[in-house]
Amino acid sequence: MSADKGHSVSTTSPLRGKNVLLGVTGSIAAFKVAGWIHALTAQSVGVTVMMTGAAERFVSSLTFGALSGNTVYRDMFDEEPEKLMAHITLSREADVILIAPATAHTMARLAHGMADDLLSTVVLAAKIPVVICPAMNTNMLSHPATRQNLERLQGLGYQVVPPDSGNLACGEEGAGRLPEWEGVYEKLVSLFCPQDLVGKKILITAGPTREPLDPVRFLSNRSSGKMGHALARTAARRGAEVVLISGPVALAAPCFVTTLQVTTALEMREHVLQQSRDADIIVKAAAVADFRPKNYQKQKIKKNGENRQIALKENPDILAELGKNRRAGCVLVGFAAESRNHEKEGRNKLKRKNVDLIVVNDILSPTTGFDVETNQVTLVDKSGSLQLPLLSKVDTANRIWDHILTL
Ligand code: PMT
Repeated sequence: MSADKGHSVSTTSPLRGKNVLLGVTGSIAAFKVAGWIHALTAQSVGVTVMMTGAAERFVSSLTFGALSGNTVYRDMFDEEPEKLMAHITLSREADVILIAPATAHTMARLAHGMADDLLSTVVLAAKIPVVICPAMNTNMLSHPATRQNLERLQGLGYQVVPPDSGNLACGEEGAGRLPEWEGVYEKLVSLFCPQDLVGKKILITAGPTREPLDPVRFLSNRSSGKMGHALARTAARRGAEVVLISGPVALAAPCFVTTLQVTTALEMREHVLQQSRDADIIVKAAAVADFRPKNYQKQKIKKNGENRQIALKENPDILAELGKNRRAGCVLVGFAAESRNHEKEGRNKLKRKNVDLIVVNDILSPTTGFDVETNQVTLVDKSGSLQLPLLSKVDTANRIWDHILTL
């Protein structure tokens, strides 16, 4: 294998250049959706809004028109020339229909193929993906009629982003809140990703570990968790069932990923051994501390004017342990944080730890390795090595999945 041609680092949104047809219905949560439009247009995603009559009781079409920069469509019988065949043309010009917020009434209408207004007619005539974000009072959501409609919608191939729980506008607590934008965004992105990891259970480790010295101090490293979180996010977008075991990081847990937080290498080992039992792919991107202080001091160590020595004890090598107890059918991938001889060190680790792939990244360059948005990795496996160009960690992660799928 040879080095890939470099290109400028693309950290653009996967939705860039796409067009979202946003259907807004009559829920108080309509005001939140206005903020979503800004998030999309900021990523060069086109947004065209269509509203039900009830939606206009909550937020004026002027608001959506101003935010989207496009005509807002409301009435199917609107005489204006550009709106005459809107119920047919609108979905032709879009890549995805996003119904948010989706009221119980609109879900009922869509579940039964009704076409009594512009929004429902557009959906019925559409041949593009439809994503539905329910928002309503908890009792309405849990009512059997609504639950049946939700199931019917999923059976019709519509993608439903589950509502969140918490304080509702009506003052009650419970499920029914409009899903957070991050989850909806991930759902939209996944529609345009190859679903080539569907059915795979993938275990990923990320971030540093912290090895305590006393109640105040610990040994750690500069890992931010960005590489591991990018691997988790991209695997979930490609349809995998993802378990992420993360050391202490300042990143929000990725959506649609089961995240387990750990602190020390020993805790990480325990969770990894447990979760690895039924994993199809394991990728260990975490910067696990090789050593921990031999003697943990229960009291804060006080200064006494003298120099101090810290006795260190080696931590178990989790990757090597997995390599020793390989399970048939499970692809095992390690990372290598190197400052030189990248390919040679990677090949040594490949053999020594008995893994299928080592992802080598340079930790001296200011644009690769620890705590930066980009990385440049060399993929080393039994058939050779492939040097990737400098890419965002998200694009690097996608290239790593592409390569793993060839193993
Ligand atoms: O988190 P970021 O800020 O985005 O930075 C990303 C990263 C640089 C941390 C990541 O890309 C990376 O290189 N992770 C591996 C860092 C590391 O510990 O490399 P290593 O060469 O010391 O370890 C080799 C492999 O053994 C790694 O897969 C590591 O997870 C594993 N290991 C190491 C020590 C140990 N006790 N147990 C392990 O399983």
